Amino acid sequence: MLTAMGQKLFPYFTIPFCLMLFLSPLTLPLVSSQLNYNFYDYSCPHLSMMVGFGVWSALQNDTRIAASLLRLHFHDCFVNGCDGSVLLDDSKYGSERNAFPNRNSLRGFEVIDNIKADVERYCPSTVSCADILTLAASEAVRRVGGPYWRVPLGRRDGTTANEMDANTQLPSPVEPLQNITAKFISKGLDLKDVVVLSGGHTIGFAQCFTFKGRLFDFKRSGKPDPSLDPSSLSNLQSKCPNSDASNSNLVPLDSTSTDRFDNSYYTNLKSKTGLLESDQALMGDPQTAALVNFYSTMNQNYFYNDFSASMAKLGNVGVLTGQNGQIRKKCEFVN
Ligand code: HEM
Ligand SMILES: *[C@@H]1O[C@H](CO)[C@@H](O)[C@H](O)[C@H]1NC(C)=O
Ligand SMILES: *[C@@H]1O[C@H](CO)[C@@H](O)[C@H](O)[C@H]1NC(C)=O
Repeated sequence: MLTAMGQKLFPYFTIPFCLMLFLSPLTLPLVSSQLNYNFYDYSCPHLSMMVGFGVWSALQNDTRIAASLLRLHFHDCFVNGCDGSVLLDDSKYGSERNAFPNRNSLRGFEVIDNIKADVERYCPSTVSCADILTLAASEAVRRVGGPYWRVPLGRRDGTTANEMDANTQLPSPVEPLQNITAKFISKGLDLKDVVVLSGGHTIGFAQCFTFKGRLFDFKRSGKPDPSLDPSSLSNLQSKCPNSDASNSNLVPLDSTSTDRFDNSYYTNLKSKTGLLESDQALMGDPQTAALVNFYSTMNQNYFYNDFSASMAKLGNVGVLTGQNGQIRKKCEFVN
C-alpha cells in the first residue's frame, strides 16, 4: 500500500525535487540575501495586524511612544545593522541599552516585548524581533500622520550586542555635521539621508543636557549659540536652567507640532529654532541648507516620499538573513 502510494506520488515529488537540487546552489544565496514583502505571508499572515494593534494601543496610553519606537529602530540599525541587538538586555552579551546615547534615553522596549509575546502565541519562533521593530517604526510614523511605507521582511536576530560600538557609531548632537555625515556614509547612507532622516525630529523630545551647551556657554564662548533665535533661546533657558538639576527635563524637538509627523522640522530650522546643535547645523552647510529649504517650502509629500525611501535604506543596513542569526523567542534574550 505504502509502496503503491509512493510510486504513485513519485513523479510529483521528484521533478520539483530534482529541480530544487539543481537550482539550489544557485538560487538560495541570491534569494536568502534579500528581504521581501511576502516573507511571513504563509507563516504568520496576521503579523502586520498584530504589530499595528500593539503600536495603536501603546499610543492610546502615551503619544510620545511613536517617536520612541522610531528612534529605537534607528539605534538598532545604526549599530551593527538592524538585528534587534539594541533590544537585548542580557548581561552575558553586553548591552547597547547601556551605551551613553541610549541609557536613560531609549524607550519603547516594553511595547516591542508585548508585540513579540503576542506574535509568539500565534506564530512561535517565526518572526524576528528585528522585523517587529522595523514594522513598529513604520506603523508608528503612519499613526502620527506621517507617510506609510511597506517594509520588506526576513531580517534575523543577532546573537550579540556591543556597548562600545553603540558609543562610537551612534551620532552625537554635539559633533560636527561632517562627522555625523561620515557615520552615515559608513552605514551605506548619504548626505541626503542625513537631512531627510533628521526630519524624524519632527516628533518626540530631548533632555536638556543634550543641547544645554547652546543656551549658556556655546563652544566655551561664554555666550549662547548665535544660530539660535533669541526668543526661542529665552524660552529654552527657562525650561533648562543652567544647573545640573535641569539635565533630564524634556523639551519637544519640534515645538510647533510635537506629536505630528510633518515638515515643520525644516521650517523650524529656517527660523533658527532647531533644538539640537546637530539639527541647526543643517543650515550651516550650503548643500544641506538647500535641502532644508526644499522640504520646508515644497508640498509635504516630497518630504514624505524621501523619508520613506531613506527609512527603507536604513532598514536594510547590515541585516542578517537566511541561516545567519536566529529567531529569538524573547527580544531581551538570545535563545
Ligand atoms: C543625525 C544625527 C542624529 C542625532 C545627533 C540625534 C540625536 C538625538 C538626541 C540627542 C535625541 C534626544 C535624546 C534624549 O534626550 O534622551 C534624539 C531624539 C530623537 N531622535 Fe534623533 N538624532 C539623530 C538622528 C535621528 C534619526 C535618523 C532618527 C530617525 C529617523 C531620529 C529620531 C529621533 C526621535 C524620534 C527622537 C525622540 C525620541 C523620543 O521622544 O523618545 N534621530 N535624537
Ligand atoms: C503608559 O505610559 C507610561 C509613560 O507615559 C508608562 O510608564 C506606562 O508603563 C504605560 N502603561 C502601559 C500600560 O503601557
Ligand atoms: C570629528 O572627526 C574627526 C576626524 O575623525 C575627529 O578628529 C574629531 O575628534 C571628531 N569631532 C568630534 C567632536 O567628535
